[in-house]
Amino acid sequence: LRVLLAASEVVGFAKTGGLADVTGALPRALARQRHLAAVVMPLYAAVRRSGRPVERTGIVLPVPMGDRVLACRVYRSHLPNTDVPVFLIEHQPFFERDNPALGRGLYQQSGPGGDKVDYWDNGERFVFFSRAVMELVPHLGFTPDVIHANDWQTGLVPVYLRELYRQHPGYQRMRTVFTIHNIAYQGSYPRELMNLTGLPGWLYNPGQLEHYGFNFLKAGVVFADAVTTVSPTYAREVQTAEYGYGLEGVLANVSGKLSGIVNGCDYEHWNPAHDRLLAATYTPETVFEKKPLCKADLQRRFHLPEDPNAPVLGVVARLVNQKGIDLIMSAAPGFLDLGCQLVVLGDGDREYHDQLQYFRDRNPDRVGIYLGFNETLAHAIEAGSDLFLMPSRYEPCGLNQMYSLKYGTPPVVRTTGGLADTVVNATLENLADGRATGFSFNDYTASALYETVKWALVLYRDRPADFRQVVRTAMAQDWSWDRSAEAYVKLYQRVLGG
Ligand code: ADP
Ligand code: GLC
Repeated sequence: LRVLLAASEVVGFAKTGGLADVTGALPRALARQRHLAAVVMPLYAAVRRSGRPVERTGIVLPVPMGDRVLACRVYRSHLPNTDVPVFLIEHQPFFERDNPALGRGLYQQSGPGGDKVDYWDNGERFVFFSRAVMELVPHLGFTPDVIHANDWQTGLVPVYLRELYRQHPGYQRMRTVFTIHNIAYQGSYPRELMNLTGLPGWLYNPGQLEHYGFNFLKAGVVFADAVTTVSPTYAREVQTAEYGYGLEGVLANVSGKLSGIVNGCDYEHWNPAHDRLLAATYTPETVFEKKPLCKADLQRRFHLPEDPNAPVLGVVARLVNQKGIDLIMSAAPGFLDLGCQLVVLGDGDREYHDQLQYFRDRNPDRVGIYLGFNETLAHAIEAGSDLFLMPSRYEPCGLNQMYSLKYGTPPVVRTTGGLADTVVNATLENLADGRATGFSFNDYTASALYETVKWALVLYRDRPADFRQVVRTAMAQDWSWDRSAEAYVKLYQRVLGG
């Protein structure tokens, strides 16, 4: 198969969250299975800073935007240690905004008072990018069978293929898959933006592109040949009012072409056995001897007392409504009363930054925080914590809990989306069966989170044999990409009619 993956971020080049991990790992796994894969993303300032080698190609694409045509240069790189090409779409006014005063975000800038706000022209930026993806196709060096688009930023790709490109030679047999990584971000803009797209105006209707505005995510859902979410549970959830963010009806309508494929975990990057970012590496055989070294290192890094007996609760998350930070904040005083230390790495909404800062200042010897993006600390937390907290309000898949399983740090999760699909709760029954890999709860309340941590600590302190069994079972789980990539290949074959 030949697959072109289109996305707004790719790990190693530019990343804000798990989407980048997926778009970096899936093509790699496809290539391992002898498929031909390529990736296309915008050339942000962040890419130039990333240190990845980026070469200019001779390709210049004419990208129509309303009554203008913008010329856009294409650069080329590859995924680290592979020959999977990464095509980078250059347009400086849209993508290279390296102005520290504005913020260096891929999608956002710093607003008044330090809040982050979306760029005023995100709609235009991603109309442009999606159109450039279509124009790039004849220059790839191969004709893709499938274009795999991801999230709202590339939601127009399936529309372009059906409405503007399919009649052209080279595009006729091509099919599209659209993956929803997060339905809360939809890319919804005023109808006038349609004028820039080159798409016929009549597509703006409630059955197609319209949903309280011109909605890019809906566009992808309606026009793609197949739609996926990043876990089976989330595929069911998005068809309900609680999780569908207004698009539940649209998703229920396309349930025949909707499925869920759990993300894989990139064990080249995330493996305690050879993770160079750790104070000590370890395997299931050495975990109980070496993990304490990682814990001490973590405590040092966050200026906490190096107490081997204080259970460390770790958090790595975008600090946004999705991630249940409000539950963590409400339960946190209780955690400290239970003798825990709390370590939080995250970047996001100002109110959470302020709350965390305040809480840390009042408890400097029990709480450690780092408000920003830091890859080394993310690894240090996965390895050095005793429990990993992820009480998400919703979670399409979630990668951090999979990392924590691999690092022998049992996750404490809310039973939703991918968290429900990847963590087996330590009930007495599951413990007896040797199946438990972590701790989970249903109700979105601070007390449910608190009680679950309390139960985990009963195992940690009073039933160490049980706790160790959970750690070992967690580490033995295999969420490697190969399995998920096979599921995508089957889906690609299905949309191609094979
Ligand atoms: P989401 O994509 O919703 O943010 P995931 O769990 O799927 O959640 O993926 C998050 C990814 O981003 C993980 O690779 C995680 O380690 C990383 N990450 C999130 N916040 C930070 C941060 N502040 N510093 C470093 N890495 C982070
Ligand atoms: C989104 C989701 C997260 C998922 C990631 C990669 O950011 O919030 O749950 O793991 O995409 O698919």
